Amino acid sequence: MITTDPFAITEEALGIPGAAELTALANSMFPDLTEGLTASPSAEDPFGLTVDPVSTRSYAPSVQSKTEAAEADRRIDVPTSLSGVDVPQSDISSEKGTSRDDSIRIGGKTLAQIRNDFPILSERINGNQLVWLDNGATTQRPRQVIDRVSYYYEHENSNVHRGAHTLAARSTDAYESARDTVRNFIGATLSEEIIFVRGTTEAINLVANAYVLPQLSPGDEIIVSILEHHANIVPWQLIAQQSGAVIKVIPCDETGQLIMSEYEKLFTKQTKFVAVTHVSNVLGTVTPVEELIAVAHRHGVRILIDGAQSVAHIPVNVSALDADFFVFSGHKIFAPTGIGVVYGKRELLEAARPYHGGGNMIADVTFERTIYNDIPNKFEAGTGSIADAVGLGAALDYLSEIGMPCVYRWEHELLQYAMKEMTRIPGLTLIGTALNKASVLSFKLDGYSDEEVGKRLDSYGIAVRTGHHCAQPVLRHFGYEGSVRPTLALYNSPDDVDALVRVLRTFA
Ligand code: ALA
Repeated sequence: MITTDPFAITEEALGIPGAAELTALANSMFPDLTEGLTASPSAEDPFGLTVDPVSTRSYAPSVQSKTEAAEADRRIDVPTSLSGVDVPQSDISSEKGTSRDDSIRIGGKTLAQIRNDFPILSERINGNQLVWLDNGATTQRPRQVIDRVSYYYEHENSNVHRGAHTLAARSTDAYESARDTVRNFIGATLSEEIIFVRGTTEAINLVANAYVLPQLSPGDEIIVSILEHHANIVPWQLIAQQSGAVIKVIPCDETGQLIMSEYEKLFTKQTKFVAVTHVSNVLGTVTPVEELIAVAHRHGVRILIDGAQSVAHIPVNVSALDADFFVFSGHKIFAPTGIGVVYGKRELLEAARPYHGGGNMIADVTFERTIYNDIPNKFEAGTGSIADAVGLGAALDYLSEIGMPCVYRWEHELLQYAMKEMTRIPGLTLIGTALNKASVLSFKLDGYSDEEVGKRLDSYGIAVRTGHHCAQPVLRHFGYEGSVRPTLALYNSPDDVDALVRVLRTFA
């Protein structure tokens, strides 16, 4: 067991007092990345790295003694309760004697089965198998989503809510069933509380303009955090400019976690709204959403949680959290682009004014006045991305079959492994080291530009994002204009991490 490793899985991180045996077992799951490269340098591959990223090493724990062997036969337990959802002590295991991704079971499927569900993961890029580590920018789609969208266009396509014919009924059923799936997935009470929009950006603009702006007077205050991406900054600036309101910012500590005592101090009689991310897209910090919401409510202030970077990685229950608004994008949760969600408590959506005007959002129109439709239609003017909403429903069904608590636990373990390996790379500095982190592995490499690193990774088929990640304030807070940002998702394997680390070691 590694005791000096800053990224070792600890009892505190697991939240299980007295779980020393389990933490030892968890740490033994991730062997050192010491196995050598199998290819030789060549003109095309000066570092001799062109090996299939599915390496030859087994991912089964290497065990020595009988006691350790017995421990390894037990399942790894990483129980915690977060975002209003209990994470059960089961359903992640690594079996001895089987190889690699077949041996890793994540809830209802093995990692190998999950990877097979995503056709694009078999693509070869620059002669190498694709290693997709740009999940923070967008995720890939499983066959189940691709097929569901194709089926929609082959058998169900029609506009919704408009028409007496059979296809109108089919498409309306498919669309409304997707809404119901979203409600269920995030634990909302009513399907009417789910509004389909284009994505997180439109979702936040909708809440800002339809719900918050009408309540603002000059001098009123909106609280956001230093961690926000531009989509959760600029809409608030726009309505602040229109109303004379001001923006106040929750600071973070050196690890990238929000300073909750400073948050509490920001509230005044003028505070009208809070909007905070659940997971930072630059640092990976998981913010304490339960507490953020409870503090806002203690001050009588409503709060929006931006789930763009959390909902694919962490189980969420908006009712248990008591979130007033929760927003996310489909394309970051294995669904098509062009679809996203606003969850809002019914009474708040009913009190809000419409955002877009047009067809579908009306009950009756004359030239003198319009009577608006009920929620959710009041916010869905015009023809939306019907097939993409149906695809979103399929993506959420896919995740539910695996089990979000298991997805969370798997990614957590993989993140710990990746951080452990990356901190051993000479000249590499991880940006964002909060204890509670998800998915994101931003870093800088001494002596190399982010672009140089991104390009060399791409030459080995490894996709990461470089640049400012649409979140300049938080990067500048840490003294940077950009970073290299690998981001993990459900289907990433230890071999993906190993491939990343191998190439990063060539810069030393
Ligand atoms: N906000 C997205 C990202 O983090 C686009 O990459």
